[in-house]
Amino acid sequence: MIGKHYVLTGGTSGLGYAILKQLIGKGAHVTVLARNPNKLRQISSNQVTVIKCDLQLKQNIVDLKTHFSNHKIDGIIYSSGVGYFKSIEEHSEEEMIETYTLNAIHFNLLLSTLRPCLSQHPTIVGIGSQSAFLTQAHAAHYGASKSAFNQILNALRIEHQDYHVLTVNTGPIATPFHEKADPTLNYAKKYQHMMLDADDLAIKIIQAMIHHKKEINEPKWMHIMLKVYNIAPRFFENNFTFLFNNKKRE
Ligand SMILES: NC(=O)c1ccc[n+]([C@@H]2O[C@H](COP(=O)([O-])OP(=O)(O)OC[C@H]3O[C@@H](n4cnc5c(N)ncnc54)[C@H](OP(=O)(O)O)[C@@H]3O)[C@@H](O)[C@H]2O)c1
Repeated sequence: MIGKHYVLTGGTSGLGYAILKQLIGKGAHVTVLARNPNKLRQISSNQVTVIKCDLQLKQNIVDLKTHFSNHKIDGIIYSSGVGYFKSIEEHSEEEMIETYTLNAIHFNLLLSTLRPCLSQHPTIVGIGSQSAFLTQAHAAHYGASKSAFNQILNALRIEHQDYHVLTVNTGPIATPFHEKADPTLNYAKKYQHMMLDADDLAIKIIQAMIHHKKEINEPKWMHIMLKVYNIAPRFFENNFTFLFNNKKRE
């Protein structure tokens, strides 16, 4: 990775920030797209460039063309994401649009915008979620947006066999994500014991990038359980409803 140039989103917090630290340690150059560049003031590395970009705003993404016109990009790591743990009717129109826009549609727009600057065999890393694979009561739009993201990445892998596409399907991670998803922190407190550590996961992601893996599914036990669930999903939903309704705010 020494000297390679990656564009990173979500680099100001949680998993994205952990990935940023790993990339710096590996000698890579990183351009972070951040809506709040101030959050990275403490990073003094000359390997890091921060560009102000609100990924909800189409024009901010399109304008990136001018920034990158003379810079080759070896990879894009899309770690920005948002979700609201609330019922379908509790989601406001703005929250729904925000969720799908950031988690799926603007990934696509960013890729299209940066495509002319990509190297011959770029790496595209998408931080997805295990929630893409099961019914998510009280987080339907988050799960649906991550299913869409997963399908886009899978199709991209086939359409662009010259790309290395890595999908990271992760279970809960101990990050500030939960403060926005459910400010009561009901879910975060209940499942604190099984949350993944962002730094550990970032190390696995860097290794998977180096070794050209196509998928990371963590934690492994959750991935296996979801495979079993998908044999007869309605049966499991009827008989173990609590497992699919655990994101309800209290
Ligand atoms: N945490 C979990 O339990 C969990 C589980 C499964 C999957 N994931 C996925 O993992 C990825 C990383 O999430 P995380 O846990 O690290 O969450 P996080 O700590 O909340 O970080 C989210 C990142 O996205 C950025 N972001 C949000 N809206 C943006 C916008 N409009 N423009 C630019 N950047 C924006 C945030 O920037 P600001 O710093 O400006 O807010 C932040 O850097 C997400 O895709 C998430 O869906 C998380």
